[in-house]
Formats: sequence, C-alpha cells, structure tokens
Amino acid sequence: MRAIVARKNGDPGVLEVRQLPDPSPAPGQILVAVKAAGVNFADVLARLGLYEAAPRPPFVPGIEVAGVVERAGEGVSGFKAGDRVMSFCPFGGYAEKVAVSALYAMQIPAGVTFSEAAAFPVQYLTAYHALFQVAHVRKTDCVLVHAAAGGVGIACLQLLKVTGARVFATVGSDSKAGVVKEENPSARAIVYTREDFSKIIRDEAGGVDVVVDSIGGEIFRKSWMLLRPFGRHVLIGAAGAIKPGTVSKLGALWRLRAMLFVAPLAMIGKNRTLSAFNLFTMADRQNLLREAAEELLSLYAVASIKPRVGLALPLEKAAEAHRRLQERQTVGKVVLTVS
Ligand SMILES: NC(=O)c1ccc[n+]([C@@H]2O[C@H](COP(=O)([O-])OP(=O)(O)OC[C@H]3O[C@@H](n4cnc5c(N)ncnc54)[C@H](OP(=O)(O)O)[C@@H]3O)[C@@H](O)[C@H]2O)c1
Repeated sequence: MRAIVARKNGDPGVLEVRQLPDPSPAPGQILVAVKAAGVNFADVLARLGLYEAAPRPPFVPGIEVAGVVERAGEGVSGFKAGDRVMSFCPFGGYAEKVAVSALYAMQIPAGVTFSEAAAFPVQYLTAYHALFQVAHVRKTDCVLVHAAAGGVGIACLQLLKVTGARVFATVGSDSKAGVVKEENPSARAIVYTREDFSKIIRDEAGGVDVVVDSIGGEIFRKSWMLLRPFGRHVLIGAAGAIKPGTVSKLGALWRLRAMLFVAPLAMIGKNRTLSAFNLFTMADRQNLLREAAEELLSLYAVASIKPRVGLALPLEKAAEAHRRLQERQTVGKVVLTVS
C-alpha cells in the first residue's frame, strides 16, 4: 500500500510517499481501506517531534480516517466487510489501509461523504468533551473560544450554538471572522492580530465563564485573567508553542513560559478551575466516548452540526497540507483523499 511516512522530525519536507506492507487486523481490530484521512494539528506537532504520544520516526502520521471495512479481525462484532466507517486511530491514518480498534469505529451516516466523515471524530469528540464533560457549559455561560475558525474551533462554535451560550471567538484574520459569523451568527468574532481580545471582552462582558484554550503561552495568561468567579479554563492544546520555520523543543517551551505562573491562591480566591482534555487518554474510557459519539451523531442527523471541510488534497500532498495548517492558512478541517 501507499503511505505517507515522516522519515524524521522536521519541516513538512520530511513527509514522503512510500510503499509499505498492508497491515493486518489484530483481534478486536478492523482493516479499513482509507478513502479520506483527517489532518490534525497533532500531526503537525508529531512531525515536529513535539507530541509525546506520537511514535518516533519513521512513522505514518494520521489520527482519524474514513473508509470502507475490508476485513474484521477475530472477536469483532458490529462491523463487516463493505461497511462505511469513520474512526479515531492513534497514528497510521495517512495510508491506503489502516487497522483500527473496532471500539473507536462508527458507521458513517447515509449521505455523509468520506471527506466529511474524516473531519468528524477528533474535532467533535474533543470539542464535546472540553465543553460539556470538563467545563460543564450551560446556556447561561459566556465562552471564549480561541482559533475559532479551525477544525476544533468550528466544532465548538456549532455545539455552542445548539447550547445557546454567549460566545467570544478569536481568529487571525478578517476572512476567518467571516467564517465564525457563518458558523455561529451570534458569536462575537475578534481578530486578535489587530484587536485586543482581552479589552473587548472586559468592555463588553466583564469576563467569561469558560475558556477553550488551544494556544497556551501568553494567550493562556490573558484568557486566565478574564475568568469570572467559578470560571473554567480548559487547555486542549498549545499551538502557540510553534511558529513557521524551524522549531526547537527549547523554543517551544520558551513560548509557553507564561503558563508557569498560575497562582494557586488566585484559583481559590475566585473558585476558578484550570483543567485539560486530551482525546488520546480516552482509550480506556470507551463508554464515555460511545455516549458522546451517539449524542453527536444525533445532532449530525438533524443538521445541528456539520463538519466544514476547508481543504481537501490528495494523499501525496500531505506535506502541502501540513505547511498550510502550520502557517495558519486553513479554515475548518483539512483532509487527504485516497483514490
Ligand atoms: N486535546 C485534544 O484531544 C485535541 C484534539 C484535537 C485538537 N487539539 C488541539 O486543538 C487545536 C486545534 O487543532 P485543529 O487540528 O483543529 O487545528 P486548527 O484549529 O484547524 O488549526 C490551527 C489554528 O490555530 C491557530 N494558531 C494560533 N497560534 C498558532 C501557531 N503558533 N501556529 C499555528 N497555528 C496557530 C491558527 O488560527 P488563527 O489564524 O485563527 O490564529 C490556526 O489556523 C490544536 O492546538 C490541537 O493541538 C487537541
């Protein structure tokens, strides 16, 4: 099979097409003929050598796929050859075939394309858990979402629209602000490259109840300071650790340094919570994942949520997809298609 291999840690040029042996499904796994693979920021971090859960090079990136079941391994029930499925997969997704645990897989609803399905598992499960399982967002809450026109950001906007919560959404450009308005018309979009999100939120709302923080560093500090009493700050990523061009681990840590200065007494004084969510550590919480997936699929069925695929490129253009994602040129989800 053809696969994209990160031959070493480094810039997008380290991603190359290689021929690899077909995987075979272990007990409990299904073999999926991949039609589309989701490109996630985690893949960028893994390529750079900044993602702890990633394998060491050479490895095949890709943590979610959509495709057709080719074969089910021993002990699998609920899936058979020919089923259309989408699934989280802990790496190996940028390939023509991948073996994934049947516990992660979901049937693709009728009418949903493979590209849309490849945009579903990671971003919606992450947004759902961060908002509702960790931050317990309610209709009366005011929520700040960073990188709001990105994959997870748009999932948050759509889910918050369903909830009816008030939303402040930061983005890096005016065109991304337009995307925020399309996805959640009542959200207040803030273009942080020319506006001070902290001042705007203080002036218009006094503060926020919940922060969904995928950036970290100085953005973390400013957002944390905006939390009202009983506020919840959920860390889901640290995109602020990297910048275009060469990235060193030390440089990444330096850019996140503002996060070292959380004052525990300020948390107690205002009943504020600092928490985090990571989909990778949900592997042993299958029931929670299933429950969330079922609720999300029922919202999908009535069109309350819908993945927005902003860029679809053929598998062999993985390096180009990574370059655009790392340089903040994408909106919504990026997918790689296999023909
Ligand atoms: N915890 C989990 O389980 C989990 C799961 C999925 C994703 N995540 C995290 O959620 C975040 C979003 O992931 P995604 O795959 O949906 O990506 P994405 O949001 O589609 O793309 C990243 C966006 O982050 C913003 N950004 C801010 N600082 C950046 C920087 N230094 N370099 C590059 N981009 C920067 C950019 O938007 P602007 O131009 O608007 O600034 C960029 O478009 C990432 O931090 C990712 O690691 C966490």
